[in-house]
Amino acid sequence: MFRNDLKWSDVTPKAQFLNRRQIMAAGAATLMAPRAFAAGYSTSEKQNTFEEITNYNNFYEFGLDKTDPARSAGALTVDPWSVQIDGLVDRPGMYDLADVLKMGPIEERIYRLRCVEAWSMVIPWNGFQLSHLLNKVGVKSGARYVAFQTLQRPSEMPGQRQGFLDWPYREGLRLDEAMHPLTLMATGLYGEELPKQNGAPIRLVVPWKYGFKSIKSVVRISLVADQPDTTWKQTNHREYGFYANVNPTVSHPRWSQATERRIGGGLFNSRQDTIMFNGYGDQVASLYAGQDLSRDY
Ligand code: MTE
Repeated sequence: MFRNDLKWSDVTPKAQFLNRRQIMAAGAATLMAPRAFAAGYSTSEKQNTFEEITNYNNFYEFGLDKTDPARSAGALTVDPWSVQIDGLVDRPGMYDLADVLKMGPIEERIYRLRCVEAWSMVIPWNGFQLSHLLNKVGVKSGARYVAFQTLQRPSEMPGQRQGFLDWPYREGLRLDEAMHPLTLMATGLYGEELPKQNGAPIRLVVPWKYGFKSIKSVVRISLVADQPDTTWKQTNHREYGFYANVNPTVSHPRWSQATERRIGGGLFNSRQDTIMFNGYGDQVASLYAGQDLSRDY
C-alpha cells in the first residue's frame, strides 16, 4: 500500500501528511482513521508560519529569550526517548516513544495558543488525544489529577544550569481536563516531526489554558490523587494559578489579559480581544460549572 513511486506530498496537502517516523511507529491504520472528529476541534483562522512558530518560543531550559530555544535546542538528544507512566494506573511502565505514539490515532489539530504574556499564535499540530493514552494505560479509581514532567538534562539544556526555575519543569491537569478531547499530546507540527524548540519529541497542548500549561519534552506522566505541584504556581502563586484558564476578566497582577498580540501580524502586529477559554468555551466551560474562576485562576 505504500507505493514507492508516490511521495506523501503527492497525495496529501503538506499540512496533513505525517512524518515517516510517526507513520512507521503508528502503523497504516492511523492514516485511514476518519478525520471528521478533528474538524470540529480546529480553528479556520490564519495559521502562523513554520518560521514564526519555530523562532519565537518559551522553553526556559534553553534560555530566557524568545530566540534562545531555536538557537540552542539543536543539542537536545530526542532519540532514544521514553516516557515513564506511573502512579494510579493499571499498566505503569517505562514506555518507548514508538509505543507511546501507538496509543492513539494521530490527527491534525489547528489550535490557538495564548501565552500568559499576552501574545498568541495559531499552530497546526499533529498529535493524539491524551485521553487515548490514559485509556490504554488504565486509570485507577482514586486518580484525580495528572502530573507531567519535562526532561532534566543540564548537559544539553543550558537553562537548567541556572536557577531561574525549579527544574524539572512540572505541570498538571485535573483528570477531567486531561480526558477532554481537546487535550492533545503533540508529536509534530505542519506535518513535520516536532521541532526541538517546540518540545520534541512529545509535548502537551491544552488550548483553552495559558501556554505555560502546555509542557514540552515530556518524560513522565503520573496519575495522582492530589493536586500536584506545578512549576509556575510554585515560583509565584499570586501570578500563576493551577487552572490557568485563559480569562480576559482576570488580570495578571502586572498586566491586563483583556487583549493579545497575534504574532506575525505584520507591521501593525495586530492586537485583538482575548476570548474566555481562548475561544473554546463551548467545549470546556461545563468543566468549571460552579467554580469561581477569579479564585481558581
Ligand atoms: N515547557 C517547558 N518544559 N519549559 C518551558 O519553558 N514554556 C511554556 C510552554 N511549555 C515551557 C514549556 C510556555 S510559557 C509557553 S507560552 C509554551 O510552552 C510555548 O510553546 P511554543 O514555544 O511551542 O509556542
